[in-house]
Amino acid sequence: MQFHKYDVVIVGAGGAGMRAAIESGQRARTAVLTKLYPTRSHTGAAQGGMCAALANVEEDNWEWHTFDTIKGGDYLVDQDAAEIMAKEAIDAVLDLEKMGLPFNRTPEGKIDQRRFGGHTRDHGKAAVRRACYAADRTGHMILQTLYQNCVKHGTEFFNEFYVLDLVLTPDENGNPAASGVVAYELATGELHVFQAKSIVFATGGAGKIFKTTSNAHTLTGDGLGIIFRKGLPLEDMEFFQFHPTGLAGLGILISEAVRGEGGILRNADGERFMERYAPTIKDLAPRDIVARSMVQEVLQGRGCGPNKDYVVLDVTHIPEETLNAKLPDIMEFSRTYLGVDPVTEPVPVFPTCHYVMGGIPTNIHGEALRDNENVIPGLYAAGEVACVSVHGSNRLGTNSLLDINVFGRRAGIAAAEYALAHEHIELPENPTKVVEDQLALLLSEHGDERVADIRTELQRTMDSHASVYRTEDTLKQALTDVQALKERYSRITVSDKGKRYNTDVLEAVELGFLLELAEVLVVGALARKESRGGHAREDYPNRDDTNFMRHTMAYKEGEGLTADVRLDYKPVTFTRYEPMERKY
Ligand code: FUM
Repeated sequence: MQFHKYDVVIVGAGGAGMRAAIESGQRARTAVLTKLYPTRSHTGAAQGGMCAALANVEEDNWEWHTFDTIKGGDYLVDQDAAEIMAKEAIDAVLDLEKMGLPFNRTPEGKIDQRRFGGHTRDHGKAAVRRACYAADRTGHMILQTLYQNCVKHGTEFFNEFYVLDLVLTPDENGNPAASGVVAYELATGELHVFQAKSIVFATGGAGKIFKTTSNAHTLTGDGLGIIFRKGLPLEDMEFFQFHPTGLAGLGILISEAVRGEGGILRNADGERFMERYAPTIKDLAPRDIVARSMVQEVLQGRGCGPNKDYVVLDVTHIPEETLNAKLPDIMEFSRTYLGVDPVTEPVPVFPTCHYVMGGIPTNIHGEALRDNENVIPGLYAAGEVACVSVHGSNRLGTNSLLDINVFGRRAGIAAAEYALAHEHIELPENPTKVVEDQLALLLSEHGDERVADIRTELQRTMDSHASVYRTEDTLKQALTDVQALKERYSRITVSDKGKRYNTDVLEAVELGFLLELAEVLVVGALARKESRGGHAREDYPNRDDTNFMRHTMAYKEGEGLTADVRLDYKPVTFTRYEPMERKY
């Protein structure tokens, strides 16, 4: 075992982790641990834009942005956090511009802006151009820009260091405080303990719970799983976002920017069906509404293709030069993966799991909570792994690249300031024990189940029973299936017993996280007997503010894989927007 000591340790090197590192590294001795290489983080897959009410191309202001975020999140958004995000958005974009990000420009040289779903002028009157963008590679550009600025500031990266445990030391009242992390070095199989005064989790989402997803293979919910296993809460995990336009049958993301640039969704009759569901902003309604509408079209027999199981995204009316200039990756993806040329043919699309709105509950400084009120000293979270909650039950497109910059920055500053004001606390005796036991069990011969088989079945049942629409029956089926898969997981065999680059054993660890998080999702979804944002219950089709205007807090109760999920609830923070009927 190797030992390291830092002021701040950041786990994850996507946008949130690196934005935090830029702040923290300039104030305190900081290490960034990532299971990948920073420039391979999933932020790089984000396409269409990062929103901020710059008002560069038309009238806009941060209050309209706040309102859209709250309404878009179906009023489950904590309004104080949404106000901060919308206000700080403007500086967040300008910071990136100063760091060198090559945004698309207007003819006068200002940062150009495009339309995106749910972003409106004057409280819903019409779609507004609020998303700042770099073609359809905005996330890629943000990731590269942040990485280069980390290099400039001398950030210490530990690449292919897979954090498997958070070390907590009880304080004098027995409450947990963060004291370190345990990481597995992929190249050697060695364990490393990083002692730190503060730790920022920025490990991203968990889209691989589902088969049809825009998420990379690496999005396995590791940070969420680690927190849950510590008996700490996860907030609002029943709310997963299904992005309307995944390539049909594949789930690969086709940016909402396509509709922002004028793309139209059509059914088998060629009808622009979103005119019926969202008469004012049509194809640019928030994602939950568009995804549900697409599924309805298919269920009602108006789907396209031989199996009538998708709709199409039509850009054939947009000039080819515009498509090539503003959406080059999308053109390429359609041609490469479906053999469809968007210039001449509509592209088959269907909703794909894209984002988890829930996560580690934090306050507006990024401090992680151990219950509804109390923080875990020294522990922070930012980005998709966190739940501030600025997205409520449905995130608006482009608010994610914004979230990672605003709250990544805040968490980095807060973690460094905490580290400067505190001493290291002692690590418990044998801090690697949990991980040693876990790896020893996975590597021992204790069954003949295979990781790939269980993962495939998990993703199949979640796609069939817990995606855009859910019912009591489908969710109960998903729960039965997940619990059976957890039992089978206790009998898996990992064939590679080696030390060097043992991705086999890490995939087994990741599957363990996915199974537990799938159970958290389903248990939360069963209890939420209403439809709101990314959680649509066919058996409870309406939003129920009387009983469910509250955040779900899920805790692990008991030990090991047979443990239960206990649910508690937390009030939503309101400042000035009363919940209204959500019309677009
Ligand atoms: O559609 C997109 O370009 C995705 C953006 C987002 O999820 O924010």
